[in-house]
Amino acid sequence: MSGLLLLLVGVLSLLVCVLRRRIRRDNEPPLVAGWIPFVGKAVEFGRDAQGFLLQQKKKFGDVFTVLIAGKYMTFIMDPLMYPNIIKHGRQLDFHSFSDSVAPVVFGYPPVRSWKTPSLHEDIQRAFKLLQGDHLCALTEGMMGNLMMLLRQDHLGRRPGAGPGWKSGDMYEFCSRVMFEATFLTLYGIPQEGGRHDGMDELRKDLFQFDGWFPWLVAGVPIGLLRQAKTSRNKLMRSLLPMRISSWSNRSQFIRRRQELVEKVDALKDVDRAAHHFAMLWASVANTIPACFWSMYNLVSHPDALQVVRQQILDELKLSGVQFSTDTDVTLSRDLLDKLLYLESSINESLRLSSASMNIRVAQEDFSLHLKNERSANVRKGDIIVLYPQSLHMDPEVYEDPQTFQFDRYVQDSKGGFFKGGQRLKYYLMPFGSGSSMCPGRHFAVNEIKQFLCLMLLYFNLELEPGQTRATVDSSRAGLGILFPSAKVHFRYRLRCV
Ligand code: HEM
Repeated sequence: MSGLLLLLVGVLSLLVCVLRRRIRRDNEPPLVAGWIPFVGKAVEFGRDAQGFLLQQKKKFGDVFTVLIAGKYMTFIMDPLMYPNIIKHGRQLDFHSFSDSVAPVVFGYPPVRSWKTPSLHEDIQRAFKLLQGDHLCALTEGMMGNLMMLLRQDHLGRRPGAGPGWKSGDMYEFCSRVMFEATFLTLYGIPQEGGRHDGMDELRKDLFQFDGWFPWLVAGVPIGLLRQAKTSRNKLMRSLLPMRISSWSNRSQFIRRRQELVEKVDALKDVDRAAHHFAMLWASVANTIPACFWSMYNLVSHPDALQVVRQQILDELKLSGVQFSTDTDVTLSRDLLDKLLYLESSINESLRLSSASMNIRVAQEDFSLHLKNERSANVRKGDIIVLYPQSLHMDPEVYEDPQTFQFDRYVQDSKGGFFKGGQRLKYYLMPFGSGSSMCPGRHFAVNEIKQFLCLMLLYFNLELEPGQTRATVDSSRAGLGILFPSAKVHFRYRLRCV
């Protein structure tokens, strides 16, 4: 009987989808709805987002609407149109999308509700604690933690005293060091000092959860994804308010977030833990793969690595910063700002590996101004998407776009990047755009710089021979920095310094 009921509900839902099928109206972008109701082009998009979008662009031009898993998404493929989309603040809202997705994915109640008045605004205001002058304290904290981890785990042996080269999985190396250092910097150290137990397990749970992230964002209920639910529950238990409060040296940012979620009576401790878990995820899920690609691209281009290393050494010398195998190096925020080749090579790595979507939701039916005299009608609830990977890989904007050119953005100071003869306002967008831009972007770039400086100063680095060039795994396309599709083995040895 229940089987029959299910079938009936299924058939009825299908019928509703078919009857409510959207018909393109006057001045709306071309519609790509596929033949499967509701699902639309979700499968093709999920398989190879960038390839799919380029195909549609060839057929329909720079602006088209695609039905993906029940959502009508209008893709804007011409970067010269980006400024008009990004400045459409009131009619195009970022937070209505993230506010509906994030609570479901991370497991906390909706943030904009009468039960949690002003929580949304308070959380947004607290992001300032990741920037400006606050960045100095975070950078200093990160420096100390990175140095401590490298010293305890990898710098033990003096050059020549040990067996020489050590080998490792490069992603695992970056992930271990960056996860723990970021965690210690933001969430603090155990009351009794030293390092937290169980860091590896926490990290593994976080990345196991992350593996299910695309499914959760697509709307699959977590109840159907047992592994994701188990990892999420474990992560939440590790980040319960009582535990975090017992840690010392917490960053001002995390302390502020604790205060904010603590003062809302409608939240239970488990909800507060879910907020902390969401922040932990945001702070490492993209930074770690970005760090890997930045390191990989340098190690696989020894000439570039040499130029980057030399500039670090020169700037250290100019600033009078001493360091040796026995003396810890300190890289202040000011010094990091001067490392233009390092910054350019990180930006180049972000260009090659980022595949995030910039999403805005139309708050009303309106005519969206695109470029010059051109506009398109959109409907309330439609999702407007910028897909910067297509810009990052556009041969008209970036010569030889598949190639890593470590100094590409040092050249940028000579005039910028162009499309159709016009200078682009937005040409590198791994951190999103406009009002929704990642609030942790400066901290992220600084911590990657610090990690790479230490690796380049203290170690000789090489790829193990016989490996093919690393490629990206596109399963996270649309959601951030892509992971490598296979392991990369490298070797490292202490330099004589
Ligand atoms: C390379 C590393 C990182 C990348 C590529 C990255 C990228 C992004 C992107 C694309 C967004 C969405 C922006 C939009 O849609 O316009 C975002 C949002 C966010 N990021 Fe990052 N991020 C990184 C590191 C970090 C770090 C280190 C933190 C915190 C310490 C952080 C905290 C956040 C938060 C809290 C949001 C949501 C902001 C909001 O709700 O308004 N991110 N990030």
